[in-house]
Amino acid sequence: MSIFAAFASMAAPASMHPDVSKMPWMNKALSPDRRADLVIAQMTLDEKIQLVHGTHWIVHRDGQDVPAHSNYGAGFVPGIDRLGIPGINMADSAVGVRVSTFQGRYATLLPSTLGAASSWNPQAAFLYGSVIGRELRAMGFNMSIGGGVDITREPRNGRNFEYAGEDPLLAGTMTGNLMKGVQAQHLMGDVKHYAFNDQETGRTIYSADINKRAARESDLLAFQIAIGIAHPSGVMCSYNRVNTVYACENHWLLTDVLKKDFGFKGWVLSDWGGTHSTVKAALAGLDQEMPSDKYFGEPLKQAVLAGKVPMSRLDDMDHRILRSMFAAGVIDDPPTPRTVINPFRGRDDAQQLAEESMVLLKNEAHLLPLQASSIRSIALIGSHADVGVPSGGGSAQVNAPGGNAIGPGAHAGESIYFPSSPLKYIREHAPAAKIDFNPGTDPAAAAALARTAQVAIVFVNQPMQEGMDRPTLALPHDQDALVAAVAAANPHTLVVLETGGPVAMPWIDKVQGIVEAWYPGIGGAQALADLLFGNVDFSAKLPVSFPRNDNQLPHPEIAGITATTASKTPVFFDVDYNKAGAAVGYKWFEMKHLKPLFPFGFGLSYTSYAYSGLTVDRDGHTATLTVRNTGQRAGAEIAQVYAVLPKASGETYKRLVGFDRVELAPGESKRITVPLNSLCLSVYDTAKDTMLRLPGTYTILAGPSSADTPLRASFVQAH
Ligand code: BGC
Repeated sequence: MSIFAAFASMAAPASMHPDVSKMPWMNKALSPDRRADLVIAQMTLDEKIQLVHGTHWIVHRDGQDVPAHSNYGAGFVPGIDRLGIPGINMADSAVGVRVSTFQGRYATLLPSTLGAASSWNPQAAFLYGSVIGRELRAMGFNMSIGGGVDITREPRNGRNFEYAGEDPLLAGTMTGNLMKGVQAQHLMGDVKHYAFNDQETGRTIYSADINKRAARESDLLAFQIAIGIAHPSGVMCSYNRVNTVYACENHWLLTDVLKKDFGFKGWVLSDWGGTHSTVKAALAGLDQEMPSDKYFGEPLKQAVLAGKVPMSRLDDMDHRILRSMFAAGVIDDPPTPRTVINPFRGRDDAQQLAEESMVLLKNEAHLLPLQASSIRSIALIGSHADVGVPSGGGSAQVNAPGGNAIGPGAHAGESIYFPSSPLKYIREHAPAAKIDFNPGTDPAAAAALARTAQVAIVFVNQPMQEGMDRPTLALPHDQDALVAAVAAANPHTLVVLETGGPVAMPWIDKVQGIVEAWYPGIGGAQALADLLFGNVDFSAKLPVSFPRNDNQLPHPEIAGITATTASKTPVFFDVDYNKAGAAVGYKWFEMKHLKPLFPFGFGLSYTSYAYSGLTVDRDGHTATLTVRNTGQRAGAEIAQVYAVLPKASGETYKRLVGFDRVELAPGESKRITVPLNSLCLSVYDTAKDTMLRLPGTYTILAGPSSADTPLRASFVQAH
């Protein structure tokens, strides 16, 4: 079928208007589970099989047939017209709706999810998801396959920009609220990649080797928290192996932990090509093979007929899919008709999110805010800051309006740029100043321009994408030399980082200011200019530690990177997760007595805050403290509460157990009560196979960052 014929058939599929009066499952008063069972009772074996796999790899390749009702997203599962069940149209949408050819001419590029996690603001995460949900609906999709929550165990991981940082509570809370925002638009969502897909190097062949306790208190805890908040329709199992067994056929992960312990009611879909077997995967808990039918098409049908996979298990797969469709509302309120998305609303939301996501890391001698009325000259240097801002690549890549703003780019593997020009918006703020741009490709020329200006702003970037990691924390393309040259030429140098994750900064002592802007999205330059000139205050704090160098990491060299690049034939290898165990990020630094470059939870603002009066209730459910704005302007402070568990935990580090974002007028004080997450206060007891609180004394600490916790209180957990 041509794509035009397919489009026509999608617009008015006659068979999608069946007689609803004969379909008791269309009764909205029944529970999603009951409705699913009523449908399953009517389904033939072929129909049951049809729902548990996709049609094939991306359907818009030249020469391929387009299945009716497919929306040309990353995945499509045909529905069952005679029963009124629509197809499942899945779209990648980690940081905005991904390139999706026919339906995806424009989508809002949001700041990276790692950037959004820097807001520590669950409402911002919800807004983030709402934008994605709104636009998916407008385009006719009914499922988002964004929702990445793999924690930052490997800061050089190419996909960290799609995730929400190194801490299970922060990452789980932000991703859960994001997906809640998507699903509030009556769409289905998922969380991914379950689990331990924390590096891209060898992602289809490595085994993450980790003991159960560490697993439950780190990566899996982030999933547990996100799932508990969002109740997502799907969980996407990952490509890698876990304790030598592929994640998508790992009974412990999929059934024991996810479905039984977490009580997950939705369905497990495999990452694209991540299914490796029929019977083993089906019995382990995989519910849907994506994107094709190699194992869950005819082979699954035969396995069911032969009794190797019980019919009850196939029914369970279908039940999970159908109950999620009913629960999300995609059957009662399908995303039709299509509309043109509202790019203006999306851009405004993206700007607001970017304002809350950029982190002020250094601001000596009040370099910032720049004074619009008095500044005479600014040298703007590097990272195509004259035309736009970079975006993350891979399956999170959003289409840039007008095409890549920098054309083919100067370097292989350079990011795709979006037309949000820092030069333009900085000029708007200081129309009387002389503001010149230098591309930064020749450090000497850049330094010459910097020397003539009152302030030099150097933009540096770190392109990141799925399928590859950065081999080191160093900035690529000699950008360290560029910063050093500019800083030597101008004492008032500000560095703006446009990075996917943490980077090393050998020039840190030579520059006066540093802003981490991440991949800031389509409203990024406007947000940055507003922050630099002080129209908006910085409030964000780091969701990841910034190490000084690669040697501080559990794996100074990315596990497997030499083996996988040296050999063309895949060789299985192990990544020793037990080295850090549950001590990921700031916990690792504390345990090893290492001082990072910038600690987790750190971020400056134009005002200042004081903390006092910490108390904790007898049972350790809440902590109460006072935060006061001691500065001259209004701001929002992210207050953090940590716990050190009783000695019996064996832990020599603290854990984040609660946080709150408090808005304060100058001089204002607020007494806030922060709920303490019970799971974060628990350990996993392997013998009892459960999360529990150890008896003993818990020290509760509070303050502005993981490295600055001036307040202390405690509570005792009885036996
Ligand atoms: C990625 C997933 C993505 C899928 C579909 C895979 O390569 O790992 O995150 O959703 O492709 O595009």
